Amino acid sequence: MKGIKIPKKEANQVRKILMEKSIIDLGLKIKRDSEYVYLPLMCEIEINSEKLAESGISHLDILEIEFEIQKRGPKSFMDFLNGKIDEVEIQEIKKSFDIIGDVVILEIPEKLEEHKHTIGQAALDFTKRKAVFMKKSEIKGITRIRELEHLAGEDISETIHVEYGSRIMLDVKKVYFSPRLATERERVAQQVKDGEIIVDMFAGVGPFVMDIARRREVLIYAIDINPSAIHYLKKNMELNHVEEKVVPILGDVGQVLSEHDISADRVIMNLPGTAYEFLDKAMELIKPGGIINYYEFSSDFYTPIQRIIDAAGPRKVEILNKRHVKSRSPGIWHMGIDARIN
Ligand SMILES: C[S@@+](CC[C@H](N)C(=O)[O-])C[C@H]1O[C@@H](n2cnc3c(N)ncnc32)[C@H](O)[C@@H]1O
Repeated sequence: MKGIKIPKKEANQVRKILMEKSIIDLGLKIKRDSEYVYLPLMCEIEINSEKLAESGISHLDILEIEFEIQKRGPKSFMDFLNGKIDEVEIQEIKKSFDIIGDVVILEIPEKLEEHKHTIGQAALDFTKRKAVFMKKSEIKGITRIRELEHLAGEDISETIHVEYGSRIMLDVKKVYFSPRLATERERVAQQVKDGEIIVDMFAGVGPFVMDIARRREVLIYAIDINPSAIHYLKKNMELNHVEEKVVPILGDVGQVLSEHDISADRVIMNLPGTAYEFLDKAMELIKPGGIINYYEFSSDFYTPIQRIIDAAGPRKVEILNKRHVKSRSPGIWHMGIDARIN
């Protein structure tokens, strides 16, 4: 079979041109060694220097090469883009995918803005979901939501996401939700014992709450300042049949707690930007021996742990676990600390 031998660093550009001209044989597997990439050519196409020059390629070794037949699995995201965008950029976009129920949210770098609808359509075809949105702002404000722009599919932002068996209804435009915290939520849910009284200070639409209440005999006070979050939290209580175990509370955790007389075995504080402002409140709620699942954006463990110790005052603090939950930005982590307050 005919193929092109091309130094690794030029391979991507050449592959792109060949894909656009439909010269590359997609039925065969591209070969690689430490220095070269070998691209299979369509055998029915006459390969001559004129044709290659037309494609903007010169000095290529065209050889007889044995290529393996491509087993046709599901198409990759790159196949859907048909060579229109650079492979490295595609990988970056793919890493940014958040799939929430039927909705895909992705990040498109500024230099690729002109291709946003093509990328959106490719993401829709690749993921087989119903709607694709692109991030238009950072997560911001007290309700921690971001602006989104519709790119492809239906312009529907309400969906049901399934996480470790919990059904989570939400509107991606109106509430905070990150599927990337699923493992963390599961980790906390696994710690919970029957009989616990829990306060989720920043409950959102209730992903921690549902995961815990579905599996344990507990009572959870679920607080959020965003009316849309509480609206979906109530829907999720019904969807997951946990109405008896959850008390939804709309309001600022700094104010609403005084209306309730709660003594908690566990306080969950997933508002990593400013949760430290509410550590005093958590200390008022927590029973001796109770656990605070605390989160903070930080470059080190020292800062969040020291804040917990300061807020605890004379009470003894035992750090049960500390971990990097996910990266926030270079050098800054979403840190998780489990602290027992004696
Ligand atoms: C990072 S989100 C976490 C939501 C949820 N725990 C999760 O894992 O998806 C933080 C939530 O805290 C809420 N929030 C922010 N400040 C608050 C406050 N002072 N009192 C109550 N809720 C607050 C926001 O509306 C948002 O839903």
